[in-house]
Amino acid sequence: MLNSKIILALETSCDETAVAILRGRNGHSGSQLLASEVASQIAEHEKFGGVVPEVASRNHLVHAPRLLERVTREAKIGISQIDAFAATSGPGLASSLMIGASIAKGLAIGFGKPYLAINHLEGHLLSPFFGETEIKPNVSLVVSGGHTMSIFVRGVGEYEVIGRTVDDAAGEAFDKIAKLLGLGYPGGPEIERCAAKGDSKRFDLPRSMPESENFSFSGLKTAVRYLLPTLGGDFLADVCASVQQAIVDVLVRKTIAAAKKFDVDLVTVSGGVSCNRELRKQLSKACKGQRVEFKTAEAWLCTDNAAMIAFAAMLKLENGASSNVTEEIDPNLALAV
Ligand code: KG4
Ligand code: ZN
Repeated sequence: MLNSKIILALETSCDETAVAILRGRNGHSGSQLLASEVASQIAEHEKFGGVVPEVASRNHLVHAPRLLERVTREAKIGISQIDAFAATSGPGLASSLMIGASIAKGLAIGFGKPYLAINHLEGHLLSPFFGETEIKPNVSLVVSGGHTMSIFVRGVGEYEVIGRTVDDAAGEAFDKIAKLLGLGYPGGPEIERCAAKGDSKRFDLPRSMPESENFSFSGLKTAVRYLLPTLGGDFLADVCASVQQAIVDVLVRKTIAAAKKFDVDLVTVSGGVSCNRELRKQLSKACKGQRVEFKTAEAWLCTDNAAMIAFAAMLKLENGASSNVTEEIDPNLALAV
């Protein structure tokens, strides 16, 4: 383990404060997670039915120093032993990104170590390979609260966006529809839980833009809004199952179409919505039908965390890359090609 580097990464792009420490690859063995902590702010934002940027930013300031202390203790690493500091630099909420990036830059300058600015989407899309040494070409579906994107991944840093949402992200659709149904936040897990007992064929909900490589979910939300006042009796489980199936159908169909178009042997899925068991099951089955390998990460790596940011940073550091500390955060940061 003598030559492997150690990275500390912060993720504060939205409402989760996360810090992780990762030891880089040693010979043929992949990187090893030494500590990863996430402080969720769900309780603070739940009463508003969504994330309030000002509240998120203030909470990052409270949680980050506490988590930094905890991960170094867990990893049994002194902060001076860290070889590089990384943070998510976008996309996300400006006031949230600023906190993690400022801390990582401050530590990098203070300890005279490299700083790495990491794209949040790159963190997600590399997460199915977490800890591995090789990133195989794949069609990657990134589905979260803020993003729905299919990407052709040639390797680290070589990305071609195939399709993206033209309105709501898949997770945003889950969250907004859950709110219409009076369910809690975040809505995805709530809808999945209710859908388990429901009939997904009871309501015929729209599958928008079937011929496009892009995605659209706002029509689904509107359809549910108009459907609800017409319903009586017991409908919640059936609406949830029908909504979930409408979203899963579109994601599976477009991902398989992209895999065929780009002639890949591998499909990956990441981001918070990829925790959804129906999505995993149906995408995995569809991939099997096409003789394409399917890969995803464990659920804890799919929702926002700093381990995926540390992993992306480690792959870059091992390729000799680092960022300038003058590099600004960018709330609209595009995926580099
Ligand atoms: O990746 P993530 O933690 O944050 C963003 O980068 O946005 O994703 C959060 C999103 C939320 O919209 C949440 O409702 C959704 O992921 N989500 C799910 C499930 N678990 C989380 N959606 C559907 N089914 C789930 N089980
Ligand atoms: Zn995310």
